[in-house]
Amino acid sequence: MPRLVTPPPFRETGYDPAAQVYDLEYPECEGAELDFWITEGRRFGPRLLEYAVGTGRMAIPLARRGFQVIGVDTSAAMLERAAARRASQSRATRARLDLRRGDMRTCRLSATFDLALVGFNSYLLLPDRKARLETLQNAVAHVRPRGGVAVDVFSATPLDATPDHEEVEFLERDPSTGLRVTRERFYTYDKAGHRGCSTLIYRYYEGPLLVNERRLGYSLALVSRDEVVAEFVEAGLQIDAVYGSYGRQPWRDDSPNLIVVGRTVAH
Ligand SMILES: C[S@@+](CC[C@H](N)C(=O)[O-])C[C@H]1O[C@@H](n2cnc3c(N)ncnc32)[C@H](O)[C@@H]1O
Repeated sequence: MPRLVTPPPFRETGYDPAAQVYDLEYPECEGAELDFWITEGRRFGPRLLEYAVGTGRMAIPLARRGFQVIGVDTSAAMLERAAARRASQSRATRARLDLRRGDMRTCRLSATFDLALVGFNSYLLLPDRKARLETLQNAVAHVRPRGGVAVDVFSATPLDATPDHEEVEFLERDPSTGLRVTRERFYTYDKAGHRGCSTLIYRYYEGPLLVNERRLGYSLALVSRDEVVAEFVEAGLQIDAVYGSYGRQPWRDDSPNLIVVGRTVAH
C-alpha cells in the first residue's frame, strides 16, 4: 500500500537553499541541449545574455565554446557557486563569462547582445504574465536589431495537475562537505494560479545522523504554447521558430519541450 504523505504548506523560498546541491542534481549542460544553444548562438552571434544563469550550468560550457556570456540571477548563493565554477576554468573562458546579481524583469546592463535566453524552465518561475512580459521587454531592450530572444520551458500536460511525492537518495556525496544528501519532493497543483508547486527537502547525513535540512519551495506556471507565443508577440518580437525538442522538431501537443525563438524587429 502506498504510504499517505501530507505535503507541507507551500512557500516560495527563492533558490538560495538549492545552491549547495544544484550541481549534484543537474550536472553541466551537454548533448542535445547544449548543441541547441550553440546553434542558436551561431545563428544570432556570440554575445549572449542568459537570464536566471544559476550556477552556470549552461553559461560555463557556452563560454568555453567561445561565446561571450553575461549571466544574471537573483540568488546570491547560486551566483556564488557559478563564480566558484568560473574560477576553475581557463583564463580565456573566465574572460568570456561575467556574472551579475539582478532580476530578469528589471536589470539594466550597459551592453548589447545578439541573443538573450531564458533556459531550463526559469521563465516559468516568474510570478505571472505581467512579469513574463516585462522580462521579454527587458530582453528586447538589450538585444541588437534582428537579434534573438529565446525561452525554453517544458510542455505542460494535464498530468501536471496531479499531486505527487517522491524520495530520492543521492548516489553521490556533497563534495564540499562529504555528507550524504537525500531529497524528498512534494508536488501540488495550485488551481487558482494554474501553477505546479514543488517543495524539496534536502537532508544532509553524517553516517546515520541528520546534521542539516534545507527546504526549497518554487512554483512553475503551467503555460501553453499559444500563451508563450502571444507574450512574444506582445513584447514586439517576431516568431522565428517554435520547437518541441532540443533536436529542433517543430512543436506538437506531445512534445517534451516548448522552445520559442523570437527576433527583434529592425529599428
Ligand atoms: C532552475 S534554476 C536554472 C538555472 C540555470 N539557467 C540552469 O540552466 O541550470 C532557476 C534560476 O532562476 C533564478 N531566478 C528566479 N527568478 C529570477 C528572476 N526574476 N531574475 C533572475 N533570476 C531568477 C533562480 O535564482 C535560479 O538560479
